[in-house]
Amino acid sequence: TKTEFVSELLSKMTLEEKIGQLNLPTSGDITTGAANSSNVAKNIEEGKVGGLFNIKSVQKIKEVQKIAVEKSRLKIPLLFGMDVIHGYETTFPIPLGLSCTWDMKLIERSAQIAAQEASADGINWTFSPMVDISRDPRWGRVSEGSGEDPFLGSQIAKAMVNGYQQDDLSKNNTILSCVKHFALYGAPEAGRDYNTVDMSRIKMYNDYFPPYKAAVDAGVGSVMASFNEIDGIPATGNKWLMTDVLRKQWGFKGFVVTDFTGIPEMIEHGMGDLQTVSALALNAGVEMDMVGEGFLTTLKKSLEEGKVSIEQIDNAARLILNAKYDLGLFQDPYKYCDEKRAKTDIFTNSNRAEARKIAAQSLVLLKNQNQLLPLKKSGTVAVIGPLADAKENMAGTWSVATNMQKSISLVAGINEVVGNSSKVLYAKGSNLDYDAAFEEKATMFGKTLHRDSRTNEELLAEALKIANQSDVIIAALGESAEMSGESSSRTNLEIPQAQKDLLQELLKIGKPVVLVLFTGRPLVLVQENAIVPAILNTWFAGSEAGSAIADVLFGNENPSGKLTATFPRSVGQVPIYYNQKNTGRPLGNKEGKFEKFRSNYIDERNEPLFPFGFGLSYTTFDYSNLKISSDKMNFNEKVNVTVDITNTGNYDGKEVVELYIRDLVGSVTRPIKELKGFQKIAVKKGEKQTVTFEISVEELKFYNSDLQFIAEPGAFQIFVGPDSNAEKKVSLELIK
Ligand code: IFM
Repeated sequence: TKTEFVSELLSKMTLEEKIGQLNLPTSGDITTGAANSSNVAKNIEEGKVGGLFNIKSVQKIKEVQKIAVEKSRLKIPLLFGMDVIHGYETTFPIPLGLSCTWDMKLIERSAQIAAQEASADGINWTFSPMVDISRDPRWGRVSEGSGEDPFLGSQIAKAMVNGYQQDDLSKNNTILSCVKHFALYGAPEAGRDYNTVDMSRIKMYNDYFPPYKAAVDAGVGSVMASFNEIDGIPATGNKWLMTDVLRKQWGFKGFVVTDFTGIPEMIEHGMGDLQTVSALALNAGVEMDMVGEGFLTTLKKSLEEGKVSIEQIDNAARLILNAKYDLGLFQDPYKYCDEKRAKTDIFTNSNRAEARKIAAQSLVLLKNQNQLLPLKKSGTVAVIGPLADAKENMAGTWSVATNMQKSISLVAGINEVVGNSSKVLYAKGSNLDYDAAFEEKATMFGKTLHRDSRTNEELLAEALKIANQSDVIIAALGESAEMSGESSSRTNLEIPQAQKDLLQELLKIGKPVVLVLFTGRPLVLVQENAIVPAILNTWFAGSEAGSAIADVLFGNENPSGKLTATFPRSVGQVPIYYNQKNTGRPLGNKEGKFEKFRSNYIDERNEPLFPFGFGLSYTTFDYSNLKISSDKMNFNEKVNVTVDITNTGNYDGKEVVELYIRDLVGSVTRPIKELKGFQKIAVKKGEKQTVTFEISVEELKFYNSDLQFIAEPGAFQIFVGPDSNAEKKVSLELIK
């Protein structure tokens, strides 16, 4: 058995070899920071390495695995990790975009394809899913999560873990998943990456913990500690978090890895020297040290000084060896190194076709005045903007394995979709123009959007020329891939000014303008919404982005994505989210007019520009006949909520039907709405479907002030609608 095998192996290991298993250096091949790679090969030979990450290609991985299994004393194979975040070479939309599909089967499928491709190239461990709830679009990594909602976030966490691991880690096309960043990484003060987090426990349990727990419940094999502190102790050294919550309360059985240099960063946090913080991490319940080399260089001394115990070191090594056993690496260390699969299974036509379909479903139509979209495949189309022909930006942030040169730009996608039916003209129109220094510096994996040698005036002149010759203008504007993602916090959430100027000039021409927005976060689009007739938000839709966007623009696909993060009117409203509390002084009018001594602003409304759950289609859906099977329910019963959805427009379409609950009276204050159900359905034009949601006591539960997960008897409202502004409701009483 695994227990016997691993115990037997542990009994043969020296202290150094055990500590070696806890060490995770980066390869130096692809890194996000200074690679500590010079000694990697020697360390592997000496049994001082448990795994390696961000090394790409089956040949390179095979070579390194060979050192471990042929030259090290105990021949223990290595884990090979990578940030396979939203696909491998076939790249799916950034996770925030993927979440807007609201389609758990598609999301799971994207992770499964990612696992198939990564495992064909030597990778057996991914640092995904990232499930950090965030209500703050200033934080750049909002792009890497699934938005603001704990219920939806939990479903997605489960789908991703299932996609990577399936039900059997020993297969050669599944990989170990790592849920991150535990915990609360999405709530840094002021939206500044790596900043302090300070949150009540009741908020942690109700709003921020659920997706991590869902991943654990789905059997995730590993957990990554976050950089931030929690209750004044960095997550990496936080015993309450890693042991009490993760293991004792949630029953996690896998291993915990730090984030990149998470252990030495605790020195900067002010927790002590390297030896102290390394012992703190191990004692907290962290097993693997990513890049920090704190375990490698200090644990022996700490053991001698009685600061850590041999049981803890044994336990940590055991958990890592267990994972290697589960992956089947002891049976065949080269099982993920099949050169034939590497040639046939990666970036295949069929994977790309699936990615294109999934990408189309992640796009969110924000505005479509007078049904400007879909566009006809005829006449002349001008595609203008710094993102129009930017294939190296399409995959978005954290796409380590993507071959950016093979991604489909918007111009390329449109050309393919319209064929000879329309004439397609292109001009850059302006530089990205965020900040010249940023544009060259803030790059990861070669995604820099280089400045044009021409001035913005020259670029504009060229753009106006082609715009004048066209029947319709597609303005491809927004953020570059690296304007969101890690270490890309912003205080201004507008489209960069030069691009806004370009848009104004294009509108002046008087031709219809479609804004195709690229962004890794919710932006402030008040001005654009006021002046542009159609806005399609495309996030960064992956390697097939251009084709998928063109499919939607020209009506091959009907958009069905809905926002999973609120789009504010102003950065001053942040943090902004739909599941807010009522307060003691809620605003009394629906028009958003200012009221003195109520909870509002003197210079802005409370509501966002686009709410959570919002997204348009080329067709329209009517909600009617909302019913509940009984208006009373006891703790053991269930009720059904039904609603009829009629496609009243001219296209077949898909609709995400959303169900929200409000608990009217509680022992602690409850949000004004909480998502507790959703279904994505396909309805043909003119047809009607009845959607049924089952409500049990589980949907009515929350964590009370003693952090018990309970439901309280009393009155509830249940809302069903197309977004979080849903107004149609029925009542339910939970009785003892
Ligand atoms: O997985 C990532 C993490 O999300 C951010 N820091 C680096 C890790 C490994 O590349």
